[in-house]
Amino acid sequence: MNWETLPDYPALSARAASLLLDGIRHDPKLVLGLPTGSTPVGMYDRVVGECKSAYHCFREVVAFNLDEYVGIPRDHPGSYFSFMQQHLFKHVDIDEKNTFIPNGRAPDLKVEAERYERAIRNAGSLGLTFLGLGSNGHIAFNEPGTPFDSRTHVVALSESTRRANAAFFLDQPVPTHAITMGIGTILESRSIVLLASGAKKRDAIARLRTGEQSVDFPASALWSHPDVLVLVDEAAAA
Ligand code: GLP
Repeated sequence: MNWETLPDYPALSARAASLLLDGIRHDPKLVLGLPTGSTPVGMYDRVVGECKSAYHCFREVVAFNLDEYVGIPRDHPGSYFSFMQQHLFKHVDIDEKNTFIPNGRAPDLKVEAERYERAIRNAGSLGLTFLGLGSNGHIAFNEPGTPFDSRTHVVALSESTRRANAAFFLDQPVPTHAITMGIGTILESRSIVLLASGAKKRDAIARLRTGEQSVDFPASALWSHPDVLVLVDEAAAA
């Protein structure tokens, strides 16, 4: 696992954006794994800024989001579908048919999870995946206790995760369940970049740094992967 500490959130976002854009320059048909949450917003802003003026960045790129809430319509402002439209997809030249997000309203979520796994496989597997970090160590929506070989599945969200995401739902209740790529799915990505910013993530980063692997701390699964870069800002690293 490689580590880089950036001075602050803007620097971390710029570094993450340049890794994403370099990935596409190197392989215009790159298959991305993409996160939501507040941490990647700065990265997306920079990517959009560059792609608007520079060149047709996303023309052949394929993107798989990590997760989606169960039970809310995709145009709900709190959905990850809406998040991705707002922060990335509607601003760049990505082909809509190359954007994949689990359907949290599918009639049979188990079938939907299998369909999602198949779609990733058919795309040739994830090439470069960006992850955020939950303060309890979750990656995507894989909460503590999730087996490291898990595939895309439905998960009950922990109270702390629901609280942490309440801002995206204003006065409405945060959904109780989500559908998420499994840890095993994520570990098959050729390269992984984990982003963590701010003092709220300091304890989780300190725990990750120990290198001790435990299903109680999902991000620790990343120690089994040969190509992981952790980007932290000083507030998260201290
Ligand atoms: C949510 C997402 C995760 C994300 C986490 C951290 O739970 N499902 O993929 O990593 O939030 O979010 P934030 O970046 O807002 O701290």
